[in-house]
Amino acid sequence: MERVGLAITGCGAASPTQSVSNDELSDFVETSDEWIASRTGIRSRRLAMPGDSLASLGAAAALQALEMAGLDAEDVDLILLATSTPDDLFGTAGVIQASIGAKQAIAFDLTAACSGFVFGLVTAAQYIRTGTFKNIVLIGGDILSRWVNWDDRRTCVLFGDGAGAVVIQAHTVDGLLGFQLRSDGSQNACLNLKIIEDSQEMSEDVVVIKGGFSPITMNGQEVYKFAVRKVPEIIEKSLFQASLTASDVDWLLLHQANQRILDAVATRLKIAPEKVVSNLATYGNTSAASIPIALNEAVRDGRIQPGHILALAGFGAGLTWSPDRPPKSSPTFNFAIGVVTMKDPRQAIVQNFAKSIADEVCDRWCGDRSDKSPLFLSPNPIKYSLNLFLKSLD
Ligand code: ACO
Repeated sequence: MERVGLAITGCGAASPTQSVSNDELSDFVETSDEWIASRTGIRSRRLAMPGDSLASLGAAAALQALEMAGLDAEDVDLILLATSTPDDLFGTAGVIQASIGAKQAIAFDLTAACSGFVFGLVTAAQYIRTGTFKNIVLIGGDILSRWVNWDDRRTCVLFGDGAGAVVIQAHTVDGLLGFQLRSDGSQNACLNLKIIEDSQEMSEDVVVIKGGFSPITMNGQEVYKFAVRKVPEIIEKSLFQASLTASDVDWLLLHQANQRILDAVATRLKIAPEKVVSNLATYGNTSAASIPIALNEAVRDGRIQPGHILALAGFGAGLTWSPDRPPKSSPTFNFAIGVVTMKDPRQAIVQNFAKSIADEVCDRWCGDRSDKSPLFLSPNPIKYSLNLFLKSLD
């Protein structure tokens, strides 16, 4: 099989319209803006309303990403939805597939909690590198507000809802420079959204469990210590694999869990604060959606430029991570970590820029817009577009 590389060619994001500030939250939870903002950096979050669904948020994000990539939904081969909160336990990716009209795509959900987007990116990369698929839509989305205990101020103030998406396409130059993933299922108590064991007696001899989930429980301090210790370590390993150092990183884009974690990881890696992407203040922790929502913002507002190197890291519940054997007295963990470094995430914008020139040229000289595709999208559209874009900057 031919080995190919991959490029992110589009991104998008969608959030519920309902925004709830810390002050508003403190009307019904015993908390304060001062406590939440000083401990986490969060000032407000978007919360899904009745009628909102993960499928609708995911579809909106996916359509934006496809538009940026200039890719028709019918040409998508795979839709991968990273989530812990599907609308349907059988999967929500299929609903998104139907809703965006990606008729040829296969679609499935992937669960790795807050690391889901990074795990999804690496999974998508395998399909592309082996030549199995050429066009993939990866969505990270979660509606955790439906699964928190709104009487538990230790957790409910932290989370927000939303979805972010990227289009990943086969490309001659591989933009995924390196990655490291860690899981260890042997520990399982710091962060859970567990099934409730509610027995149902069918007959004298047959007892089953009725489905249902308990709200999120978290040992915040242990999660915090873990993240601050392990995230920099695994980012360094990933950078080493890519023959890079932290000084090569243009943007550090971590799972948006807590501003203090972002700051501590950046300090450990000696990465300047202005290189850290953060949108916690307005979104809170959106779990699998946090990295693609932040990526989308930074691409669209022009911070992330062609040629920039990104270090992405997810960490969170759902899988357990433990590179060393923990001492017997150590607390239990329940985490997954994934790190990727990626180059040229703005290729899509670049491509769009070239396409807009293409549109203009065709409008002026061809009179037939359908002529532009073969002219501008082959044989190597992204590289060609990138050159065009760079030239335009001269
Ligand atoms: N408002 C007011 N007071 C509060 C609140 C609140 N919302 N929550 C807790 N407190 C109180 C506690 O009751 C406690 O009071 P006490 O000392 O009288 O008992 C005090 O504040 C300190 O509580 P801690 O839990 O020790 O607070 P901490 O400084 O550890 O901050 C926090 C908690 C913000 C959760 C922090 O531990 C953290 O960010 N941990 C990491 C979480 C994380 O990164 N998760 C990522 C994975 S989760 C996921 O993404 C799905």
